[in-house]
Amino acid sequence: MNMLGTREAGPRQAYVIVCGNEKGGSGKTTTAMHLVVALLNAGHKVASIDLDSRQKSLTRYIENRKANNRRRGISLAVPDHFVLDRAIADSVAENETTELGQFQDILQQVERTHDFILIDTPGHDSYSMRLAHSMADTLVTPINDSYVDFDVLGQVDPATGEVIDISHYAKMVREARRHRRTVDNGLMDWVVVRNRLSHLTSRNNQSLSESLKDLSMRLGCRLADGISERVVFRELFPVGMTALDEMSSETLGSGPTLSHLSARQEVRSLLNMLKLPIDDQGRRRAQARRMWLDNASRPMEDLGIFAD
Ligand SMILES: Nc1ncnc2c1ncn2[C@@H]1O[C@H](COP(=O)(O)OP(=O)(O)OP(=O)(O)O)[C@@H](O)[C@H]1O
Ligand SMILES: [Mg+2]
Repeated sequence: MNMLGTREAGPRQAYVIVCGNEKGGSGKTTTAMHLVVALLNAGHKVASIDLDSRQKSLTRYIENRKANNRRRGISLAVPDHFVLDRAIADSVAENETTELGQFQDILQQVERTHDFILIDTPGHDSYSMRLAHSMADTLVTPINDSYVDFDVLGQVDPATGEVIDISHYAKMVREARRHRRTVDNGLMDWVVVRNRLSHLTSRNNQSLSESLKDLSMRLGCRLADGISERVVFRELFPVGMTALDEMSSETLGSGPTLSHLSARQEVRSLLNMLKLPIDDQGRRRAQARRMWLDNASRPMEDLGIFAD
């Protein structure tokens, strides 16, 4: 990709996955780390980019993984990781320019050398975060299972649960899609994942499911099966591990619990839902999609996926 997020002619380009949601604490970093490990375990060359220059949680997660490797003398796979340094000039515009420059430098280093680029974005709007969204082949948006999180995507009529408007972040994604479509004819696959699902089914989360279905039609996004609320997700961070890693006395200090195994199962079904070009079948699917896009003469608006 060049500075404007457009794709230049040349050899193979990396597939870009972005974890994004303007709502803080929705599970972007946790999801990003699980996807990184899934792709590494499938034998791909993966670059990860942490755009959250303030919290740097993905960076910390990966550092914890490296430290665990050293401490235990093991070799869990790690990605080639990049993080933006936090710009600390007085003016916001100056900081954005600095961060953007760093982001573009990183992209230039990895776009032709890696199979996948996984970008974790901060829980707030920024120029580099918008640029990342406009380059995404797959955008994964985790949302916590509540109307407070839903509000980042759309507003709901409290009486009927019907979606009455779409929100700032969803509009930003729509713009990013338009931008992507005009610069390189690419199509972003947007997948919303409910995270931290409670095991108790309440009326509230049933109506949330209905509202999400409604919203997905309007936004042109897909809904993936959710990830449950599980303490293991928090416990694995300090040792840099994910539910997908082999858990043994060698790697974790103990074997997997039932909760680990259930978490792994959920993450695997999320991966299946994402339909990433991980294997031959996925690569053929991605190529077919690309060819279809190259040949499609109808503007995307006609397909209705950008409808308000
Ligand atoms: N399914 C889950 N079950 C339990 N805890 C979870 C789950 N998913 C995420 N968490 C925990 O919730 C917290 C927030 O998750 P995470 O850091 O992934 O969110 P984020 O969207 O990246 O946040 P931010 O916007 O601050 O970057 C972390 O402590 C994480 O361990
Ligand atoms: Mg984060």
